[in-house]
This record gives sequence, structure tokens and C-alpha cells, in this order.
Amino acid sequence: MKHLIDPTDLTVKEIDDIIELALDIIENKEKYSEACKGKKLATLFFEPSTRTRLSFEAAMMELGGNVLGFSSADSSSATKGESVGDTVKVVSCYADIIAMRHPKEGAPLFGSMVSDVPIINAGDGGHNHPTQTLTDLLTIKREKGRLNNFTIGLCGDLKFGRTVHSLIKALSRYEGIKFILISPKELKVPSYIITEVFEKNNIEYEEVTTMEEVMDRLDVIYMTRVQKERFFNEADYVRLKDTYILDASKLKNAKSDLSIMHPLPRVNEISTELDDDPRACYFRQALNGKFVRMALILSMLEVNV
Ligand code: NCD
Repeated sequence: MKHLIDPTDLTVKEIDDIIELALDIIENKEKYSEACKGKKLATLFFEPSTRTRLSFEAAMMELGGNVLGFSSADSSSATKGESVGDTVKVVSCYADIIAMRHPKEGAPLFGSMVSDVPIINAGDGGHNHPTQTLTDLLTIKREKGRLNNFTIGLCGDLKFGRTVHSLIKALSRYEGIKFILISPKELKVPSYIITEVFEKNNIEYEEVTTMEEVMDRLDVIYMTRVQKERFFNEADYVRLKDTYILDASKLKNAKSDLSIMHPLPRVNEISTELDDDPRACYFRQALNGKFVRMALILSMLEVNV
């Protein structure tokens, strides 16, 4: 039985297969409408979510399956003191596959050790978010037509942003990707990403503090929200939250085929004036999340259509 905890739990070939399957689902939705008939997905969300949980649930429904679960720790027996291990063990008696989000790094990994069904990490603290990464890769594939040979700028909270950590790990296995890390010095990527991912694999990367100085070189800009819930003090959050606001004036020197991505939710990082710019793909990205999760559920349940 396979779980998805870290994006590198999937080989590049497995990721490419999931993306191909998602592309086929987009073209042939009817073909998959009964594929998971009789199967159940449980969503165990100990932390807030809109896109991830609802796209998982919509994905299972569009495959003809059913969903159950909870959307906050408050409405589960966690409030009575039940451990994550016991919760997962019990829910694995009720469902065929579990998507789980938790504020503690490692909680889904721990869950996978006691579960009788596959576990998908739907975000663990500031650590990983592999299904957002699959969403991002499908988006880049659809927007750019390829997953190699481009320069990506990752901008904002690179320290606590789990989407960034997972995306770097996954993209660093494709050819010719150059990473430009744009953050204030307080929110740089964790040092393990530098040593274990970039240096170990000889990947080109640069760290800068403004988006203006690199904008003309980017093929993709991946904006992120400053992760308020991971800060130890409010004053630091308030000081850093609006460091980067992408608007039309900042795009003056940008490439005409730049892709502007954001895992969402957006706070102030992208001005709404850009929403109608054809380069803004964050809402298409959110839609891709449903298709790629359909593909992931099919492949983890080993359903062939
Ligand atoms: C992200 C997350 O939960 O890490 N949201 C999402 O799943 N699309 C990004 C964020 O919350 O900033």
C-alpha cells in the first residue's frame, strides 16, 4: 500500500503519469464518472481549508464515489483528547482512502504508520503539501506545455510556506529548472532545502529580496501568502505581511508569456487588477487541483478506467 506524504514519495515517472491521467480526465470527463463507485474518501482536516478539502471532495464525487470527514479539529474527538493515531486507525475502518491536514509537521506520516488504507498528506504544518505540488505541476504543464527548461521565481514566505517546499523538491528533479528565491531575510527557505535539495543535486538557485530585480528573467512567478498562523509573534507578522504586492506596475519588464501562480488563499500579494490579465493563472490553478486529485485518487486506489 502506498501513501503520499512527501512529493518525493512519487517518482518523476509516477508524477508524469498522474499529470497525463489528469489531462485525459479533462478531455473525457464522462469516461471517469463511475470509476470510484462504492468507494469512500475521508477528509480529516485538523486545520482550515477551502480549496484542498473541497477539491478533494468534488474530485471523489466526480468519480462517482462518496465522501465523509470533518473540517476542523473542533468537530472531531481530537477535542476530547483522542490521538491522531487512534483517529486515523478508526477512520481507516470506514473509508478506502484518507486525505489529512494537520498543523503539526509529520502528523500524516505518523497516521500512515497505523492506517489500513492509503493516506494523502493534504498539508502538514510548514512542512509539505504534495497535492498542491501536483496541482502546480499540472498548471505549469497546461500553461507552458512543458515541465522543463524554465526559470521560476518563488516569492513571499519561503520559510513557512509548505507549498514552496514541496514544489521545490518536485521541480528540482526536472531538467533545466532555475530557481530564484525572493523573500525578506527573515522568511528565506529553510537551510535543509538549500543543502539537501539545491546543493546536493547541483541545482541553480539565487536568493534575492525584491521581485523587480529579477522580473524580466522569470517564466513563472509563484506568489505566496505570509503564513500568519505559523508566526510566534504578531508584530513580526504585521511587519512582514505586505512585503510583496504584485501589481501591473511591477510587471513592466515581465515576459509576455509569464505565468503568475498562487496556491491561494490570496491576502494582499496580488492586486485584483491583475485578475483579468491572461498571464494570471491562479484561478485556473485552483480548478486544476480538482482534476489532478481525481487522477491521484484513481492511481492510489489502483482503479483502471
Ligand atoms: C496553501 C496551504 O494550505 O498551504 N493553500 C492551499 O492549500 N491552496 C497555501 C496557504 O495557505 O497559504
